[in-house]
Amino acid sequence: MSAQYPALLALWKAKLLPLPTVVWGFARTQKTSEGLRAHLRPHLIKSLQNTNDADGTKQATVDEFLSRCFYRAGKSYDDWPILQGILSETNDNESLHNLLVYLAIPPHVFSDTTNAVKTAIQHLPVAAVPAGFTRIVLEKPFGQDTASCQQLLASLQEQQWQEDNLYRIDHYLGKEMVQNLLSMRQHNPWLRAIWCKEVVQSVHIIAKEDFGTAGRGGYFDPVGIVRDLLQNHLLQILSLVAMDLPADSQKWTANEIRNRKVDVLKSIPPILLQECLLGQYDGYRDDPTIENRNTVTPTYAAVKLHVNTPAWKDVPFVLEAGKALDERVCEIRLHFQGSTTSQPNALVLRLQSTPSIFFCTNLKTPGFSETTVSTHLGVDYAAAAPQIPDAYTRLLLDVLRGHQTSFVRDDELLAAWEIFTPVLHQTERDCVKPLPYQSGTHGPLSRDEYLEAMGVGQPWLPLQAAL
Ligand code: BG6
Repeated sequence: MSAQYPALLALWKAKLLPLPTVVWGFARTQKTSEGLRAHLRPHLIKSLQNTNDADGTKQATVDEFLSRCFYRAGKSYDDWPILQGILSETNDNESLHNLLVYLAIPPHVFSDTTNAVKTAIQHLPVAAVPAGFTRIVLEKPFGQDTASCQQLLASLQEQQWQEDNLYRIDHYLGKEMVQNLLSMRQHNPWLRAIWCKEVVQSVHIIAKEDFGTAGRGGYFDPVGIVRDLLQNHLLQILSLVAMDLPADSQKWTANEIRNRKVDVLKSIPPILLQECLLGQYDGYRDDPTIENRNTVTPTYAAVKLHVNTPAWKDVPFVLEAGKALDERVCEIRLHFQGSTTSQPNALVLRLQSTPSIFFCTNLKTPGFSETTVSTHLGVDYAAAAPQIPDAYTRLLLDVLRGHQTSFVRDDELLAAWEIFTPVLHQTERDCVKPLPYQSGTHGPLSRDEYLEAMGVGQPWLPLQAAL
């Protein structure tokens, strides 16, 4: 089940959905509203498993929420008369004031679907047109490369959607630790003092998954790990790490922040193939949903980026992600100048699986010894704040509140594609073969050598120890 219904339920439960809210599902699959509810019910109850509510209370919450959920099937995504019917019916029953449309659909039907929404609204009687906001949430992928992204953006412009109405979601921006990045940087003068090339030697942003494509190969194979995780999620994190903070806190508007992210992205030249490491895990091609038995799609990638802003010039940034690796972990690591194997120094923001922030630092060994011991100083978020909201829940609330900071603007998107498109085209044109690696390992055997060569070797290991 998609993440959106549990997110809506969480908002409903927290009384953060404006009342009365009605949720309509629309797709091509034929089913009734009753059918949708029966399908969602067990998943939604399960999504409440971490709450302290008794079973009966969970069921009652879910049933109450589901009583507001409806479904209608259309012949295609551009079936605007069906959409118009949904809007009219909602207006008759509840008076339609605001409209939030969430599109979790294949990119080739984005434009037809947004056009259908526009047409459906235009065909409503004047009194039924939403007087409040109309906001469209779009899920990636936003194109395959610069040209297809430009096409997508142009078609939205032609349909006269304003940037203020569009919320391009990147769920990594809703994760607690990512939200924390700017907050930490803003509110700690000492941190601002060390957040620069004079102190930071390299930045390594890692997203490792300990599972393969698990039946999603049909979706994944034409996309690959670079488009799936690096070009969006990890690059977004990079832009938040490297952006200059507005000096004046009055200027922390959504657009000011996104302007600064764009400055970072525009400073990065296209990635060079010789600064990439690509891998594919053994057994990937056995996924029955993959059509091409000889596919060279990478399931692992590490790429080096040169952030040519005054604050970060010459500091290597490496983005690394892979499927079927040894663990599930996502971290931002800032390695400090002078860090060595015996005296590691790094700041780690761990997004998952155990959200935490820690310094890998060196203290005197307690007692009479005069040697030092490498240890972690940090905060374990799971212990400090067990009820961290899910990324989609937080981002949906932002959409409702009209907060656009954590959504990707059109120029960010284009700048991101410009960094990745040349190397993606080159690997596809030349059928560059990824290096094989075994499931459950760190990735290709040459990984450590690659990281060393790119300037993010790992003398600070081990970092895995619990806080
Ligand atoms: C999605 C990718 O965007 O992010 C998936 O399409 C990936 O392939 C997922 O597994 C990772 O998200 P999370 O929140 O589980 O780290």
